[in-house]
Amino acid sequence: MKEYMFILGRDEELSFLELISYFKAEEIEFEILNKEENIVFANLKDFDYDKLINQLGGIVKIGLVFKNLDQFDFCDKEKIGISFYKENNDFEKDLKEVFKKNKIRYVLKRPKKEDVLMPSEVIKKDLIDNGYEFLIYKEKTARTISVYNPFLYQERDEKRPYYDERIVSSIRLAKILINLCMLRNGLLLDPFCGHGTILQEAMIMGLDVKGIEFDKKTAEECNKNLNWVKKRYKLKSNFQIINGDTRELSRYLKQVDGIVTEPYLGPFLKGMVSEKEAKKIIENLEILYYNFFREARKVLKGNLVVIFPVFGNLKINPNVFRKNGFTEYSIDKDVKIPIKYEVKGGKLQREIYVLK
Ligand SMILES: C[S@@+](CC[C@H](N)C(=O)[O-])C[C@H]1O[C@@H](n2cnc3c(N)ncnc32)[C@H](O)[C@@H]1O
Repeated sequence: MKEYMFILGRDEELSFLELISYFKAEEIEFEILNKEENIVFANLKDFDYDKLINQLGGIVKIGLVFKNLDQFDFCDKEKIGISFYKENNDFEKDLKEVFKKNKIRYVLKRPKKEDVLMPSEVIKKDLIDNGYEFLIYKEKTARTISVYNPFLYQERDEKRPYYDERIVSSIRLAKILINLCMLRNGLLLDPFCGHGTILQEAMIMGLDVKGIEFDKKTAEECNKNLNWVKKRYKLKSNFQIINGDTRELSRYLKQVDGIVTEPYLGPFLKGMVSEKEAKKIIENLEILYYNFFREARKVLKGNLVVIFPVFGNLKINPNVFRKNGFTEYSIDKDVKIPIKYEVKGGKLQREIYVLK
């Protein structure tokens, strides 16, 4: 086994659970050595780290931990970046000494504002294939071997035919939710599919998908989006969009292997809502969700991953799923379900449930 350092994205707990879920679903042997804030050290047998970075929404960088700087072959004019996740003043001194001893001329690429290089900078400066980025966390040092590529997400958001920010899930979140479902093959359903972000990411991961969408125009647009994704990435996965009502989903489908959804979260909010308004929204959503869970129980074989809205202290009552035979499920004993999902600057906060 080798020791790796994983830098998690901004929702640490969620990203950690995604990572563990991925290892287990892919049957990758692992041992967590330490987790502090957004940094995880783990021993792993060989694994495909580029595939992991592409499949997961919550991992920013992967580094291979090393003990001795002498093992690196620094050639002339090497490009070097150093990202300090927790300071270690000795490291830079040691690096300069190695360069001096080997008469190496070098350019140190430092991060601009923060103490760490952004993934986009690591990619633009070509620090993985034609340079090095070192990740420093107290006394531990690692060399970046894979980094998340934000440009790929950008392409999917900008080039797919239809995109409406009021109803669209983020690609990063969509990937995390799909990984929490731990489905490796079979059929995934998004019963509130909108323009199909969750479905498109699941197809890219190799799953067959179905979506249900109430609004006829959105359902047609979703169909066009998924056609585009299938062609653009030459995918074999199949898809079907049903223009219908999720409260009757067992009429359209007999069996699905997993359900992943960011459902309808209430009306699009321009300003703050009063407590009275929020209560009314929650009440209506509880009725919709209760009916959805009742139907989901009839067709679902595997796990269900869902987001609920939170308005201040007002939350969806878990009875909407409990009374329909679902229970909270966490693959890691230290992570409690639901997990908070903070939307920076957003009016609406969210909670993520993994259910069995
Ligand atoms: C937040 S959006 C979905 C985002 C989507 N999960 C994605 O991956 O981008 C919610 C969607 O649910 C649809 N919807 C609302 N009530 C529905 C119902 N009863 N049955 C089916 N779809 C519904 C809305 O029209 C809207 O497009």
